[in-house]
Parts: sequence; structure tokens; C-alpha cells
Amino acid sequence: MSQDAENEPAAAKKKFTETRIVTVVGASGALGSAIVRALLERGAGVRAVVRATSNRTKLESLGVTDYVVADLNDRTSLQRALTAEPRAEAVIASAAGFTAHSARTKGDNSRTDTKGYQNLVDAAKNAGVPRVILISILECDKATGVPHFHQKLLTEEYLAKKRQPYLALRAGAFLDRTRDIVAPKVRKGVFPEWVPGVALSMIYTPDLAGYAAQAALDVPASALNQSVDVCWNVPVTGPQLAAAFTRALGRPVVAKPAIPPLLFAVLPLLARFVPSLRDSNAVLAWIRKGGYVSRDTRKQKDLFGEPPTIDDAVARYCRDKGLVKPTAA
Ligand SMILES: NC(=O)c1ccc[n+]([C@@H]2O[C@H](COP(=O)([O-])OP(=O)(O)OC[C@H]3O[C@@H](n4cnc5c(N)ncnc54)[C@H](OP(=O)(O)O)[C@@H]3O)[C@@H](O)[C@H]2O)c1
Repeated sequence: MSQDAENEPAAAKKKFTETRIVTVVGASGALGSAIVRALLERGAGVRAVVRATSNRTKLESLGVTDYVVADLNDRTSLQRALTAEPRAEAVIASAAGFTAHSARTKGDNSRTDTKGYQNLVDAAKNAGVPRVILISILECDKATGVPHFHQKLLTEEYLAKKRQPYLALRAGAFLDRTRDIVAPKVRKGVFPEWVPGVALSMIYTPDLAGYAAQAALDVPASALNQSVDVCWNVPVTGPQLAAAFTRALGRPVVAKPAIPPLLFAVLPLLARFVPSLRDSNAVLAWIRKGGYVSRDTRKQKDLFGEPPTIDDAVARYCRDKGLVKPTAA
């Protein structure tokens, strides 16, 4: 040990060796659990904010032991979660009302994504949370016609208005969704594309999880209080993705519509009568217009390094999903 280190005050040594704690809201979700994994791999301590009804199996298998039960629609529970000791140095917000996951657990969709998120920002501000990392959505500032995209913008604006330090990661479309429909189809030689022939910016969730962990632990305070697009280096169409899977697997994969063309054609009409289809219909219309595309990946490059390429992300996805056998080291 150096003379300097020996002379270091005890309090400073303690601070240096203490585990850095990050609170993850929505930890039981598909992305949330990937974020937990990324934080644990970085050596951080994770405080998982879950609902009383949340399934903790995945988190327990990752070794999480610090849980706080809270709901975005319950301000008192949030205050308790964000003032738990030892204090966390960041909160990553990955919860969502608008997802199949929450629908299955009776989430109150738009209330959670509007009022619920305001409650979270208020609780963070009251607790003096040093930074909130918000999982947001690409181009949410322009997608006024897509409710759950626009609700992300409202949260970004509320964070700024309340002067709560934050970084919003505006993610592209997930390659692996909450219910992953890609891997089973790719096994049969098909890549399911949502809007045939239209390019969109995408991301593989372990990469987004890694960015969230970096945003919580590494990004300097001077880079906070902005929104950053996070996605692959270029937008991609279904046939281009199918070609990337073909290269990764060494066998043919072709793009086919995820939604039967007839259903796709009548969806706008159906959505007029079935409220639960309106948001999805608006998302598809937004993609069809070419709206779900990052216009600028420079900030992503500055903060997190070169954005992943399609081939790199698809190759890792294939390995992670057991679509190819891992090569011997
Ligand atoms: N899918 C995409 O292409 C895409 C693209 C860009 C951004 N995003 C964003 O990525 C984030 C994560 O998505 P995901 O796929 O991981 O979602 P997910 O698997 O459905 O997880 C949602 C999480 O939110 C929690 N939650 C829901 N309502 C809550 C409430 N009222 N209070 C507290 N927690 C609540 C759920 O808890 P339970 O386990 O109790 O249900 C679950 O942990 C979302 O913010 C989404 O908007 C997604």
C-alpha cells in the first residue's frame, strides 16, 4: 500500500470501497431484468423496485436480494423506495404501463405512463436522487399521434421542469420484445417484420441495458439533462434483417409480414371500434411514415462509443437465443 493510501482518511476509504447502489424501477420487466444483470456485472448493488404482484423469479436467479415494493400510482410507496438506506446514486426507470407484460398483471396503462411517472419524478426530486435514467422512445418528441410515445416526452419535459437531473435514453424498436416472437420464427427460416419494407432504427436490449448501466454509473454529471437516441448505426428493413440472420446462421432466413396483410389493411378500421388497438395502430402508422428512425446517433457515439452494427447485434442475439452453437474459444 502506498504512503498516500495509508494516510487516506477512514471516511474516504469507506466511500471508495462501498458498493454503488442503483435503484431499478420496473426491475421485473424484460428490459428491467437485463438492466439488473448489466449493473450486477459492473459490480453495482441493485435495489429492485417491484410491485406486490411482480414475478421475482428472474431477479432471484440473478441474485438480487434488495427489494422494495412500490407502485408508480402510489406516491407513498415511491417515497419509501427512493429514500431507502443506503441511498442509491441513480434511479433507472424502465417501468411501463403500455406493454403486454403489464396488461397481464392488470397495469393501468396510460395512468402509469403519465401520472405514475410524474409521481416518480416528484419522489426522486424530494429524495434528492442524483440522477434519473429514463428509458424513453426514439423520436417521441415528434410522435404526437402515438399516445405511449408522447407520454415519454411528457416525462422528459416533467424531469426538466422539476429540475431533476436526468438522462433520457430514447431507444429504437427492440429486436427482442417482451414476448420474443423473433427467435421461434427465425428457427423456421422466417424473420417477422411489422411494417413490410419500411426501415426503422432498432436495438438489442442487452445493449440498451448496458447503456442504462453506463448512464447510471459512468456518464459525467455535465452530460446529464438531455435526451440521447440509442439504436444501431443505421435503420434497417425486414429483408435487411433477414439477410443479417442468414449470414449469422449460414442458412436462409426470409422476411415475412408479422401481421397477415388483410388484418394489417383493416387494422385502422378495427382500431376505431376497439380502443385497445388504437395505440398499436398509431405505432404502425408512425413506422409506415418512416417516423421510427434516429436522425442523429452522434450523442450516442460520444457517450457510449460506436453504435452496434446490425450484423454484430444479430450475431449476438443468435448466440444468446441458442440459434447457433457457441464457437469454441
Ligand atoms: N418494446 C420496444 O420496442 C420499446 C422501444 C423503446 C422503449 N421501450 C421502453 O422500454 C421500457 C421497458 O419495456 P419492457 O419491454 O421491459 O416492458 P415490460 O417487460 O412489460 O416491463 C414493464 C415493467 O413495468 C412494471 N410496471 C408496470 N406498471 C407499473 C406500476 N404501476 N408501478 C410499478 N411498476 C410497474 C412491470 O411490473 P410487473 O412485473 O409487476 O408487471 C414491469 O416490471 C418501457 O418503458 C418501454 O416503453 C420499449
